[in-house]
Amino acid sequence: MTQAESQLSQKGYLDIPVDPSLDLFAEITRLKNEKNAVLLAHYYQDSEIQDLADYVGDSLGLSQEAANTKADIIIFAGVHFMAETAKILSPHKKVILPDLKAGCSLADSCPAPLFRKFKEKHPDHVVVSYINCSAELKTLTDICCTSTNAVQIIESIPLDKKIIFAPDKNLGAYLIKKTGRDMVLWDGACMVHEIFSREKITKLKERYPLAKIIAHPECESHILDIADYVGSTSGLLNYTSKSDAKEFIVVTEAGILYQMQKANPHKTFIAAPPLNNCACNECPHMKRNTLEKLYVCIKHELPEIVLPDWVIKEGRASIDRMLEISAKAGL
Ligand code: 13P
Ligand code: SF4
Repeated sequence: MTQAESQLSQKGYLDIPVDPSLDLFAEITRLKNEKNAVLLAHYYQDSEIQDLADYVGDSLGLSQEAANTKADIIIFAGVHFMAETAKILSPHKKVILPDLKAGCSLADSCPAPLFRKFKEKHPDHVVVSYINCSAELKTLTDICCTSTNAVQIIESIPLDKKIIFAPDKNLGAYLIKKTGRDMVLWDGACMVHEIFSREKITKLKERYPLAKIIAHPECESHILDIADYVGSTSGLLNYTSKSDAKEFIVVTEAGILYQMQKANPHKTFIAAPPLNNCACNECPHMKRNTLEKLYVCIKHELPEIVLPDWVIKEGRASIDRMLEISAKAGL
């Protein structure tokens, strides 16, 4: 294998140099059109990637786009489980992710072999998994959900059925409160949504007494208890546009503030502070994607998401069920 070939391998893509004089914005747009590729980006991506994307959305919207796109290539500016979901939904398309190491602490908190044993201890339970989980976990799942449709998914399950909810214990606890259903929870959490400080948020609220506190349901219950509104990223974004309030304390990954500010230039958005003086309200996995990596990714169509056929086949049913229930609920 020549050096050039090895650089282009699934492993060597991060070493491919990028000419600093290139207009990456123009180049990415050109390559996208030339290759009939669609760029899907999550709200937690850097603003420049959001600006380049053909579609920016939450996990549900991104899955719906991946299922319906007419493009030949899906470039996923998000994390690994999202790109895997796109591959399951569009198995004959090439799905590429700028950095294969863009993982997710929540997905990692629930390894499939351990979950299989957990599931065996709770026979006769319907398994609902948050979409933030590996493709293999989806093969052990009856219905997936996202934070946008989680309530509707739980409510679609007959009352006499017992439920296991994985992997997010915080979203699970929120759903128990919201739906009144008893559920067995897997003990997983998101590293970003667990670092917010209730004390610091309360102090911020004293400085901005008219501000609405809005939070993602991946946050711990002591944070959700003080929120005026709880919802998915798209739910939070819609709330800020519809609300008469002029100030918002936003308790989720800070990337979403970009679209909030863009849609509401005269409103003020304050990112909720984490416990420490760190930038931990930014997801280190989401932020692994950069403009340079995105350029290399589309130019060389690497790295590609490859899944075994059985995972695609067995994982798909849980996502299809989720999309069916969402469509019926008008989501
Ligand atoms: P949503 O955008 O679906 O609310 O998910 C948030 C999240 O944590 C994605 O990793
Ligand atoms: Fe995973 Fe949390 Fe990052 Fe979302 S914000 S990708 S749940 S670690």
